Amino acid sequence: MRAVAVFPKTKEIKLIDHPEPNVTRPTDVKVKIINVGVCGTDREIWSGEYGDPPAGSDYLITGHESFGQVVEVGPAVQAVKVGDYVVLTVRRGCPENCIACRQMRQDFCYTGHFTERGIKGAHGYMTEFVVDDEKYMNLVPPEIKDIAVLLEPLTIAEKALMQVFTIQSRLPWECRLEQGGANQTCHNAIVLGAGPVGLLGAMALRLLNMDVHVVARDRAPNPKEELAKSLGALYHATSEKTPQQIAEQIGNVDLVFEATGAAKASFDFLQVVGPNGIFIFTGVPAPMIDITLDAGMLMRDIVLKNQVVLGTVNAPKIAFENGIRDLLEFQKRWPEAVRSLITGFLPLERFQETVKRTDREEIKTVLTLGPSLPLQRAGACAEPATGGRK
Ligand code: BGC
Repeated sequence: MRAVAVFPKTKEIKLIDHPEPNVTRPTDVKVKIINVGVCGTDREIWSGEYGDPPAGSDYLITGHESFGQVVEVGPAVQAVKVGDYVVLTVRRGCPENCIACRQMRQDFCYTGHFTERGIKGAHGYMTEFVVDDEKYMNLVPPEIKDIAVLLEPLTIAEKALMQVFTIQSRLPWECRLEQGGANQTCHNAIVLGAGPVGLLGAMALRLLNMDVHVVARDRAPNPKEELAKSLGALYHATSEKTPQQIAEQIGNVDLVFEATGAAKASFDFLQVVGPNGIFIFTGVPAPMIDITLDAGMLMRDIVLKNQVVLGTVNAPKIAFENGIRDLLEFQKRWPEAVRSLITGFLPLERFQETVKRTDREEIKTVLTLGPSLPLQRAGACAEPATGGRK
């Protein structure tokens, strides 16, 4: 079957022919991939900065933002059936089975020996078929099949929000009745970055009724500003205003959701977090970025204002489930905005056109593998996988 693979030793990215995997275990599910999103992590892997092939392979099939259809299930599978639409989770637990991995919280793996499909030590989803255990499948309602490829990037925000509510239960975080009660309208959130994770995060924060301020580089008017406005969020351009000017306009900055990977801009905004505020880092910058900042003032604020600085990566199954619920709601409230996050579809063969980001207005480019294939017999437990690459 066709697959997009990176060869770290020769630094090549090629369309290859890879053995098609088969259902071998009773709880295996075979999925025909329909769409795969391209993200910054894929581009870093393609450029050789990140990522590892599976042990014994000289290449890694890339892609971790999946959407597909179940074509075959093992005899013990209960979670999904042939014909269902699914999105697969990304991370698989460590061989030591640490306490986090044992509880299916490999997103908090202690050993660091986890694998991530399409990223670290396991082949990904830029290919025609994948086989995996039913516990990694997330059932997608057909109503959102056209946008379900956005689920994985959304889970980054979903996991962050789960933690925000746990952490902020340290203080009276609920809004007072006169401020909107349980509607959360008393909270001001800054979203740093208007890429897919930022904009999906902005949507999730708007569902919580927060006042959302999307901050990006380009001055308005521009399509991302339009999109932010359509969600009821405000847009601010860093090319026009300083973080302090933006914060003054907002009032108390209760939450900053960073989704840029830009270290300097992020630390600039860390300085405007308000009392009891929480700053969430999700971007992964290049190492060795030297910036000058007033560390004394920053530390003073963190202590004297009871602030939290949180880093978060990957997402558990529950974040995928919350994300599916939220995508259904996004589709109801902002059907055009959520669809416009996908700025281009390309057939898998044309992946080379996505290796470098060339269009400033790109949000999410999706590689497609065509419509569903004729379905195979349900419940069949086929021969072992050829090539042993799983
Ligand atoms: C993916 C995560 C992954 C992280 C680090 C992100 O692009 O969405 O699932 O854990 O990269 O590898």
